[in-house]
Amino acid sequence: MNFSFPKPLLPLLFLGLLPGTAALAQKKKPAPATAAAKATSPADIERRISDLLAQMTLEEKVGQLNQYSGREVTGPASDRKNTLLTSIRNGQVGSMLNVKGVKDTREIQAEALKSRLHIPLLFSLDVIHGYQTTFPIPLGEAASWDLDAIRLGAHVAAREAAASGIHWTFAPMVDIGRDPRWGRVMEGAGEDTYLGSLVAKARVLGFQGEKLGGTDAVMACAKHFAAYGAALAGRDYNAVDMSEQQLWETYLPPFKAAADAGAATFMNSFNALNGVPATGNRYLQRDILKGQWQYPGFVVSDWGSIGEMANWGYATDKTDAAQRAITAGSDMDMESDVYHQKLAQLVKDGQVKTELVDDAVRRILRKKFELGLFDDPYRFSDETREKQVLADPQNRAAARQMARKSLVLLKNDNATLPLGKTLRRIALIGPIAKAKRDLNGSWNVDADTTRITSLYDGLRQRASKTTELLYAKGCEVSGDNRAGFDQAVAAARNADVVVMAVGESWDMSGEAKSRTDIHLPGVQEELFKALKATGKPVAVVVFGGRPLVFDAIAEQADAILYAWWPGSEGGTALADVLYGDYNPAGKLPITFPRNVGQIPIAYNQQYNTGRPVTKPGDIRYKSAYIDAPNTPRYAFGHGLSYTSFKYSDLKISHPQLQAGEAVQVSFTITNTGKVAGEEVTQLYVRDLVSSVVRPLKELKDFRKISLKPGESQTITFTVDKNKLAFYNAKLEWQAEPGKFNLLVGSASDDIRLEGALELLP
Ligand code: NOJ
Repeated sequence: MNFSFPKPLLPLLFLGLLPGTAALAQKKKPAPATAAAKATSPADIERRISDLLAQMTLEEKVGQLNQYSGREVTGPASDRKNTLLTSIRNGQVGSMLNVKGVKDTREIQAEALKSRLHIPLLFSLDVIHGYQTTFPIPLGEAASWDLDAIRLGAHVAAREAAASGIHWTFAPMVDIGRDPRWGRVMEGAGEDTYLGSLVAKARVLGFQGEKLGGTDAVMACAKHFAAYGAALAGRDYNAVDMSEQQLWETYLPPFKAAADAGAATFMNSFNALNGVPATGNRYLQRDILKGQWQYPGFVVSDWGSIGEMANWGYATDKTDAAQRAITAGSDMDMESDVYHQKLAQLVKDGQVKTELVDDAVRRILRKKFELGLFDDPYRFSDETREKQVLADPQNRAAARQMARKSLVLLKNDNATLPLGKTLRRIALIGPIAKAKRDLNGSWNVDADTTRITSLYDGLRQRASKTTELLYAKGCEVSGDNRAGFDQAVAAARNADVVVMAVGESWDMSGEAKSRTDIHLPGVQEELFKALKATGKPVAVVVFGGRPLVFDAIAEQADAILYAWWPGSEGGTALADVLYGDYNPAGKLPITFPRNVGQIPIAYNQQYNTGRPVTKPGDIRYKSAYIDAPNTPRYAFGHGLSYTSFKYSDLKISHPQLQAGEAVQVSFTITNTGKVAGEEVTQLYVRDLVSSVVRPLKELKDFRKISLKPGESQTITFTVDKNKLAFYNAKLEWQAEPGKFNLLVGSASDDIRLEGALELLP
């Protein structure tokens, strides 16, 4: 095989959706071959691990459990950099993070091979949404609801990283993120467990392939186990207080999906869950993950989180922290150096059983064997392959494709978009119009920011030669400087249409980037109002790593396109959509509140309550606010198209469902507009009466389809008992007999067809 895009995914890239890509494929030089690891049976691997373990001293075993940061830093800086090479030669390091590139990884691996037992290192990195070629942030990718494309994105990232000496990415983050104040919502798949679980699986398979060991793949890491996304008040690293039902029903399933897909590793998390730090949480790691789920991979701590258990007031000191972490099932210590300092002595003192250490070492060595590193420690370190893979134009083609799919058209009054192809003048205004670095968003450890296409560049390349592009920055993202307003207003007056590029900057979301005010920062909305006052149509492109709050823009803009952080090809993809060469089909994977006070506002955190609001405005003594509606600005699943879709002919194969059977829910979707388009059709369920109060809507299935104008398609969803089940008060996963509503629609607040189903006892 001389081409490493997985066969089932390859056609996606060349569906003809991307102009010129097919030609590109023909011209392209064959990519260098990638190799699978030498076939070794699992039994052989276990034998080889046992042989090795038998030769290892206690100190060498503990050495395998230590991970340190290398030349780049993604956390608090460490002071060990200069002594690391000696520690590596002494067999005191099992893995490095933040070392990248064939040259560096090869050089450092050579040091590990000088250790007594020549055990190779694992090189790991936060390859979160691309390596050198960046894809949209994961939340943006999730907005595509396109699992094949998401898998392909992870595969391209893995292929680039693996060609650059990396064995292991700290991704996917499969935390459910329902609180837009939390900066890390950008890194996950949003608020829904069903969608999040499917995305988790797609990403794991994309990174790893079906089996570990290919040199075009890296190990995945499902993180952060568990419930990190539910940090109190949306403040990063904070405590989490959560019912067991919520934990099992909402937060654990994406992890289970990742484990089932074969995620080689898990990372625990910074938060305490119901009083116990995740890193020292035996219930999570030993009982659930390694016990009930029989997880064979290993668990790495988060950066310094073993040591931080003392800060939590949960461990008395480093010795106590080491003892608690290893007992709870944390196998590898990222950066706190606590295992290195304390673990061997704890074993010698009889405080920690050797078997616990052996189990952790075995889990880590198993991955090194599966990757083929014992047979060839440099198999990920080929400079020629690195150069060729990183320069492969298909990586950018895939990034462009994914970016187009991630864009969500929130509003489009009077068909403001797409832009006419014969416009004389477009005013491109706003602080992000020419931005490049911002388009990558947070988390890009090796991204080449000089190769990012800005919105300005994208539009310039795409607009006809006779279209003039009038640019004015207008204002900065933050601050209150209005000096650029006049020039911006003048440009708007001179143009046929205004395209405005606003948002937060790349470093306002991500790790340690929680915000109490998620309103569009600075004077950007004020600038919008000034532009709108010219009477020209204004289409606003909003960039950000989270749902942002904007009022005037939501109410008065003629069109709004939500761009997230779209990555290397963001500007090109945006031009494709703004000009209608690609019809947007993204749907929100997370609810957009009207204001921070409405949080928590995820669609499936809405219950009927004892006092529901039944008529708009009738809020006296009802579960409501007196200063804002209960409804969000934009609901989960919302996203428009340049065409329209009609839903009709709902048929439910049987009105009643017997245990062990399934009903078919079918309906027809017709493209009633003038252009081809894609629709993500969604199935929600409401359990009308149950022993535990249920949300008003829960996503149970979806399908993304493509229809030409006038074309219809019949969709069929299957509903079985499992789709009606939930965790009852005894934490049993059960569907209770009774009545259910089946809701089919284009968004959680745009239900087009409704039917009833009864589950029989
Ligand atoms: C801390 C983050 O929480 C985690 O997600 C990341 O993988 C590590 N730092 C390493 O950079």
